[in-house]
Amino acid sequence: MASGQPALTSLPVVPAPLRAAAKNDGIPVSEGFQLRQVGCEDPRIVEAFDRFVDRTSRATGMVQKIEALSPAPTVTIACGGKGSAWPSLGEDESYRLDVGSAGVVLSVPEAAGALRGLATLFQLVAPGPNGFEIRGASVEDRPRFPWRGLLLDSSRHFLPVSVVKRTLDAMEVVKLNVLHWHLSDDQGFRVESRVFPRLHGAGSDGLFYTQEEVADVVEYARRRGIRVVPEFDVPGHATSWFVGYPELASEPGPYQIERRFGIFDPAMDPGREEVYAFLDRFVSEMAALFPDPYFHVGGDEVNGNAWARSASVGGFREKMGLADSAAVQAHFSRRLLEILKGHRKKMIGWDEVLHADLDRDVVVQSYRWHRKLVEAANRGNPSLLSSGYYLDLMFSAAWHYGVDPLGGEAAALPPEKQGLVLGGEACMWTEFATAENVEAKIWPRAAAIAERLWSVASIVSVDDMYRRLSLVSEKLEAIGSTHLQSRGSMIRRLTGVGPEARSLEILAEVVEPVKEYARVESGRYTSQTPLVRLVDLALPESDEARRFSSEVDAFVVAVRSGTGSAQAKAGGLREKLAGWRVNDTHLAPVLGRGGLLGEIRGVSENLTRSAQVAIEAIDLLVSGRAPSRAWIDRNLITLAEAARPKAEVILAVVPAIRRLVDAAAAFGDGKTQGAAGSTTSDRKSVV
Ligand code: ACM
Repeated sequence: MASGQPALTSLPVVPAPLRAAAKNDGIPVSEGFQLRQVGCEDPRIVEAFDRFVDRTSRATGMVQKIEALSPAPTVTIACGGKGSAWPSLGEDESYRLDVGSAGVVLSVPEAAGALRGLATLFQLVAPGPNGFEIRGASVEDRPRFPWRGLLLDSSRHFLPVSVVKRTLDAMEVVKLNVLHWHLSDDQGFRVESRVFPRLHGAGSDGLFYTQEEVADVVEYARRRGIRVVPEFDVPGHATSWFVGYPELASEPGPYQIERRFGIFDPAMDPGREEVYAFLDRFVSEMAALFPDPYFHVGGDEVNGNAWARSASVGGFREKMGLADSAAVQAHFSRRLLEILKGHRKKMIGWDEVLHADLDRDVVVQSYRWHRKLVEAANRGNPSLLSSGYYLDLMFSAAWHYGVDPLGGEAAALPPEKQGLVLGGEACMWTEFATAENVEAKIWPRAAAIAERLWSVASIVSVDDMYRRLSLVSEKLEAIGSTHLQSRGSMIRRLTGVGPEARSLEILAEVVEPVKEYARVESGRYTSQTPLVRLVDLALPESDEARRFSSEVDAFVVAVRSGTGSAQAKAGGLREKLAGWRVNDTHLAPVLGRGGLLGEIRGVSENLTRSAQVAIEAIDLLVSGRAPSRAWIDRNLITLAEAARPKAEVILAVVPAIRRLVDAAAAFGDGKTQGAAGSTTSDRKSVV
């Protein structure tokens, strides 16, 4: 290590390592690399090295020969011990990495660290003065939290194995180490059960993973140092189970696969022994398929309505002295825990599983803020944070990045209780995501969450995070993730391949989907609604809007400080705005055809109007003239209208344009020409 300096984030690596120093001497990427292992026994290391070589080849476009003709730079991996073949919670993922002209030396206590170190090495591949190189660096690294997960919801929309595998590849690169696989919900039961074949047979529309496919995914993940934790959500969110096995439910049915989204009444019958016998056989079958010790049983959002309507559940409640539906659920949960223990599984549940005498081993996953982590910790239960990390809510990377598992109320926990917080999980619920666009909703934002979970808490620079996020985003694309390319093909499906495709892309670049639960609450959607509109291809966060926003702020600062750079900055902004202003002219013919694009006419027109307002505001600021009150009022109305969601997208550049108008108004403050034409300024009102 160069020194004991605090974590440095100048290396192009996400998550930022614990300690890192850049060095001057890198290694050219040319003829390939040779691997030398010292004391390593785990075959995963050779595979991970081969992946590194293959990924480097893809990222650089250079042919990598593993068996180079001339002596190739050596990657020496020195292992302290064997480690376990299966990734496990709390295993030693630390590594030391040295990259210099003499080669690469990666020193690890166990194989898991080699996988993490090779992920860092791959991210150090960058363009250099003489072509691609691996940046010279000295790194010492280990994770802050041992549980760094990503939830994939394969129920609301089925995600083919290819998507799951690409996601695992990307997870490996950013050191996420748990795939939380949400495999059953109201909208579909997605795993083949040989014991209860009507689960997938009647509950999946034929969209399920065979047991061979599950085993393949679990093995694929293992090789990448990623645990797979299955979730079978019970006793609610279980309609798909009841289609084939209505006798599990507290009301007789019949049931159909739920096509709508939200919280529904059906729930398992907590009072029938047959239900627990069924679950015992089911868990037994799934326990063999999913070797990780942890098994997620859901437990969320049981509204109690079906139980309240059922006479037999009512009788059961009275007999057992269960006060309310929460007590009924606690009873169900206790029975389920016994079943899991019988199959040597540890239980995880959403935070509703918290109850008075909850077994200490149960991991509580909070989706209702730090309050639930604190509650779990105070009871002595391990916990995970997921609220703040819901990727489906379409928040920015910066927003997620600002959420720390040990922030909020958890910051006040004593250290021994903080130690019960195992980490967190990003959650990709798929009500509004399909195989086609789910990766675009996961990446690169999940990498920002991965950094929050791996890196020390003091790494908080949002600008630096975004700088590195764009680099890792490109790396993930290079290894096969479709998160950047899917938008283009979704656009061309709507416009064809002509010039209109670029015009729609320009619009798509500056919009974002509506946030939070606006789409669910619209009530317009079922799992069969095609997700092919502008809102579906728009990325959760507009990079273009973020860049524009910084340029606007830099311009306003330059105007205020009177430095000569304002003119140049204005030039750049005007050029961009002119493109936006004219975009509707190019797009109007396709929008006029109606169909799926008809709905976005208003969005496109609003971009034109907003760009016009911005150009006028810039002209005012550059010339030092004050706007009239009428100009200000008129344009504030235009922008307020443009800020309203339309066709379920928001025009993400409007807030920055509003700041331009505010700056123009303030710049002329006290000198503004009134509606009647009087002016207190020697500046001339122009508009
Ligand atoms: C959840 O969001 N219902 C776990």
